[in-house]
Amino acid sequence: MSDLRVPFAHVDAENGRLLAAFATPLAQGLASGRFIGGDDVTEFETRFARLHGAAHAVAVGSGTDALKLTIRALGLDRRGTGITVANTFLATVGAMVTEGVRPVLVDVRGDENIDVTAVEKAITPETTMVVAVHLRGLPAAVHALRELCAARGLTLIEDCAQAVLAAVGGVPVGTFGAAGCFSLHPLKNLGACGDAGVVVTDDPDLAAEIRLLRSHGLRDRDTAVRWGENSRLDALQARLLNLKLDHIEEWTRRRRDLARLYDEELSGLPLTTPAGDDGHVYHRYVIRVANRDALRARLRTAGIETAVHYPVPVHRQPAALDGSVDVAGGALPVTEQQAEEILSLPLHPLLGEDQIRYVVRRIEESL
Ligand SMILES: Cc1ncc(COP(=O)(O)O)c(C=O)c1O
Repeated sequence: MSDLRVPFAHVDAENGRLLAAFATPLAQGLASGRFIGGDDVTEFETRFARLHGAAHAVAVGSGTDALKLTIRALGLDRRGTGITVANTFLATVGAMVTEGVRPVLVDVRGDENIDVTAVEKAITPETTMVVAVHLRGLPAAVHALRELCAARGLTLIEDCAQAVLAAVGGVPVGTFGAAGCFSLHPLKNLGACGDAGVVVTDDPDLAAEIRLLRSHGLRDRDTAVRWGENSRLDALQARLLNLKLDHIEEWTRRRRDLARLYDEELSGLPLTTPAGDDGHVYHRYVIRVANRDALRARLRTAGIETAVHYPVPVHRQPAALDGSVDVAGGALPVTEQQAEEILSLPLHPLLGEDQIRYVVRRIEESL
């Protein structure tokens, strides 16, 4: 929006900066006449797997499909119930419901990620899986979850949609469980120019099964061994993503530096800043503050665009009111309280330090 002094995201400008680099590969891609599969997709998968220390990466049509196809590929026998959070984007839970897993939603901790103690309490004989969301790019407690899942015979899936390059003790997310499901939606840290997603895993059988499912269950051109989907990464998207992969580490460093500046500038104000963590990639910089909506309105007047991720927890969505999801213990007080207070401030690699200081001064004046 042109009247904004501080836009929330700047995907247009980010892509604009790469236009010169995009031009030749795009023209060559168009001229090749090859738009599905091929070397560009393979190159992307190889590089993405390496970046996350995974043996395999399988590119698919979206982050939602990454979750759905992973669940389907893992759960060919018994789907049962799956434990996850309600403060995530709808797709985490929607993928379970549409794949025949009944979601059981548990509460979160002060850092807005899944509460492992609540997970433990929610396990029943029906539980088959836990889906840990690395919300906003902050890694969830994957070591504790991995231990718990191993002890109870459950499958751990990581929803890494917001967490490209997030890490725990220097180890990138995605392979702490059976698979890591990433979104490459245009607004994500590594964004395609359209919908795209990718699954990483160390399990060759799981990778092979997802490869089958993403392309009609075809083992070869004419032999379908499963009923599958059409959920593939386009070759042109892969070309663009390969170019962006050259920058993702630098962009991630920039996000972390800017987040640190926010932390410093906001300290002492009556609000909560995000949990500090070296492995956080700050897909979003989310503060918690009383009277959030009034602050948001004042920032808007000052030309600062903010957002709320997410104002309505999943169990409060109309789609969930038909009894398709369970709420562990009947209530999610921390999730509900945080939904009233969370506010996502502008953060993207092109944001300037002066813009951050401007945002913080306007917040200071408004509180
Ligand atoms: C936590 C989470 N899970 C899943 C998804 C779904 O990804 P996509 O929009 O690529 O389908 C998203 C992104 O929108 C997300 O933020």
